[in-house]
Amino acid sequence: MADFNDLVQMRYSCRNYLPTKIDNSLIEQVLETAHFAPSATNAQPWRVFVLNTPESLAKARQAYNREWFATAPAVLLICAQTDKAWTRADGKNHADIDIAILADYITLAAADMGLATCWVCNFDAKLISEQFGLDNNCKPLVLLPIGVPAIDDIPAKKRKYLSEFVEWM
Ligand SMILES: Cc1cc2nc3c(=O)[nH]c(=O)nc-3n(C[C@H](O)[C@H](O)[C@H](O)COP(=O)(O)O)c2cc1C
Repeated sequence: MADFNDLVQMRYSCRNYLPTKIDNSLIEQVLETAHFAPSATNAQPWRVFVLNTPESLAKARQAYNREWFATAPAVLLICAQTDKAWTRADGKNHADIDIAILADYITLAAADMGLATCWVCNFDAKLISEQFGLDNNCKPLVLLPIGVPAIDDIPAKKRKYLSEFVEWM
């Protein structure tokens, strides 16, 4: 188990996976940890589909057609139940924020277990909804490949300096 500071530095967007199958129990462990993520009013407006059969993976790969993405032995399809999420008085629905927190908890829980992930949002959401028969209240927001990284090197982090975005008032 990593120290938290080490963990956030270790987590990176992996775009090359070994074909090694990930045990369902390992994915369940990752989700068990991540499901303690906070959400507005504790609404937990999420659904997660674990795609690890040739059929379901083929559908995901059609919606995000990249060579590297096809190396992942499993993909988590993370969806928002917008109708279950908290909506502020000014109409702002918080499903996207809640799902982002859950997805990031998943990336960190996975990294803690030696697994790699990559956020993917640039997929064909309409196609995913059609292929998985998702209704209007189950919006596909993130495809998260998960697996054993094919390379050991963790790329250097490119980040802004705090002075570029933090203001003390
Ligand atoms: C909301 C969000 C959407 C992203 N979508 C994609 C994507 O569609 N394809 C991709 O290759 N990477 C995607 N990424 C990964 C980012 O490119 C990556 O997090 C960023 O470059 C920082 O690199 P790091 O994660 O290795 O620290 C996404 C990340 C986030 C947070």
